[in-house]
Parts: sequence; C-alpha cells; structure tokens
Amino acid sequence: LRPRVVFSGIQPTGVPHLGNYVGALRQWVNLQRDEQPSTKLIYSIVDLHAITVPQKPETLRQRKREVLAALLAIGLDPERCTIFYQSSVPAHSELMWILACTASVGYLSRMTQWKSKLSLASSSTLENKSVGSRLKLGLFSYPVLQAADILVHRATHVPVGHDQQQHLEFARECVTNFNHAYGNHLVHPETIVSPAQRIMSLTEPTSKMSKSHEAQRSRILITDSPQDIRSKIATALTDSTPGISYDPATRPGISNLLEIFSVFDTEGRNPAQLAQAYADASPKIFKEAVADALLTGLQGIRDRYLDLSANDSYLDKIEQHGARKAQESAKETMDIVKTAVGL
Ligand code: ADP
Ligand code: NA
Repeated sequence: LRPRVVFSGIQPTGVPHLGNYVGALRQWVNLQRDEQPSTKLIYSIVDLHAITVPQKPETLRQRKREVLAALLAIGLDPERCTIFYQSSVPAHSELMWILACTASVGYLSRMTQWKSKLSLASSSTLENKSVGSRLKLGLFSYPVLQAADILVHRATHVPVGHDQQQHLEFARECVTNFNHAYGNHLVHPETIVSPAQRIMSLTEPTSKMSKSHEAQRSRILITDSPQDIRSKIATALTDSTPGISYDPATRPGISNLLEIFSVFDTEGRNPAQLAQAYADASPKIFKEAVADALLTGLQGIRDRYLDLSANDSYLDKIEQHGARKAQESAKETMDIVKTAVGL
C-alpha cells in the first residue's frame, strides 16, 4: 500500500490574510492532527511561480521569509511537515521540463486562467499585435510547473480550492501522458476538497477578501495588531437594517462578520447561532464582539510571528532542514523518471 502524501503550495506574497488562513492554511494545520502519522505532509512556498509576474528581488526575498514565519506561526510543525522554498529543490524545474515534453499545448491554451489573461491582454489599449510579445511563456506554462510540484513528491492527495481544480486535472493529464510514453511511473493525485469557506472583503463584502484589492482596510492580515483589527472591523461595510441576522444574500457585510466571528468563537457557535445571540445588538456592540474574538484568536499567531521574524538564524535552520527533506523526497521520483526516460 502506497503511503498517503499530501502536497500543497502557497505563493510568497507576504503575510497571509484571513481569507488565505480560513480557506486554505487552517486545513494545512488540521491535517497534522487528522492524518495518520505515516502520511507525509509537504508544503511549498512556491517562489518560482511568483516570478511569472514581475517581482522586485528584495521584496520577493522578504515575502518568502514572511510566509515561512507565518506558516510556523499558525502552527505548522517543521518536524511533522516538510516546509520548503520551491526553488531550493531544482527537481521541480527539471521534472517540469520532462513533463513539458509530453504535455499538450492545446490543453494548456484551453485553461480558464490563461484564457482570461489572454483576453485581458488583448482588450487592453495597446495594439493587438504586441499581445503575444507581452504575454510570457512562464505564465502560459506554469500549470506544468504546478504539475511537477505535485508529481515530483508522488503526492496522492492535494487540497485544492475550486479555482484550482482545473490545474489538478491538468496534473492528472500530465501523469497519463508521461505514463503512456514511458510506463506506469507517476502517481495520479486526488483532490482533498475542503469545506470551501469564503471570507469576503470588509469594504466590499460581495467580493472575496484578496491581496489584490487596493484598500488595505478590505483585509485583515493574520499578524495585524489589535488596534488595526479593531479599526478595520469598526469600519467594515454593513447595512442599515436594524439588528443582527445571518443572510449572506441580502446582508453580505453582517453575514461575513458573523462568519469571521464563528471561526474564532471560543464557544464554537455557527453564524446563525451567533446572529441569534446578538439579534438585538447595535452594529457597534456587535463589531466590538467580533473584534474581541478575532484578536484573541489571532494573538498567539501574532506573538509567534513577531518572535520568529526576529530570529533569522532559526528561520535559516528551518529553511535548510525543509529543503533537505524535500530534495530527498524529489530525488526518489527523479531517479525513477530519468531511468524510464533514458536520461
Ligand atoms: P488572493 O485572492 O489574496 O490572491 P490567492 O489566490 O493567493 O489569494 O489564494 C491562496 C489560497 O487562499 C487559495 O487556496 C485560495 O482558495 C485561498 N483564499 C484566498 N482568498 C480567500 C478568501 N477570501 N476566502 C477563502 N479562501 C481564500
Ligand atoms: Na489571487
């Protein structure tokens, strides 16, 4: 029986926001508890993916470090998991090339994210004929790198949001193509579909909380100070309906705050139960309660993050430890793959 191997990646875009935490990272931590000890948990900070769009070198270096510290701060255990920078394991890029040689251009060009980038580029004011030269090959081919990330560690399970399901399907296609050409060597990964909980923007609660939104007040970073949390929650957009009730369709702002409250409620109440408990509260009182729960819930993460950020040599050690473990895991696959291909 093949051991379970879970792989997931996060872009080095700095300290995660509450949406990243609730929608993805919290599951990474829970898997430490929910999976058997024999399951390998492999989490990568995917810096090679980050450079598909322009990056300032100093900023990228700093953001990688911030994400590493944040992953440790939320409770990932570097002994239980393999936590590493993607670029520390050259096998990711190497396998990407090998997969690219059996991957279909047609399939890649039909992928939704590429098509939306393509139409965005061709609808911009610059002349159409320059579109091809402004779109980068890396952006087109990054699903192949994503496939390599998963396959190089022989991952059996990949937690994905529904926005990433097409990319996992493509990774499975890469396995089929490779195995068809060279024999049955790569493993088809399965998805772990986690209960998709979406946190919405605080200033525009009909769209999801995202780092790409201009307004800083639209999102809470998991390391925000208590003052910042209070002030962002206090100015969160709600509505003029009196009282508190849970109805995401007609009261997106209030409902989003109830969702956030529920994540951090020490009594474990769901949004509807919290709405009942605060039914007659004023928006001000309700928001204060949300902020209280949130800053209590995030306090430990923030404290650990600040400690870790001040401890460069510890982070260096963790980084090297993770890189070594990930290199070993990748080498097993590369030996098999290279032998199969004749390299
Ligand atoms: P962003 O929208 O800030 O650019 P990413 O696209 O980098 O975030 O998402 C990283 C991970 O966090 C993904 O797994 C994604 O599904 C999850 N995620 C991002 N924003 C949210 C959100 N508002 N609510 C829940 N999950 C989210
Ligand atoms: Na995004």
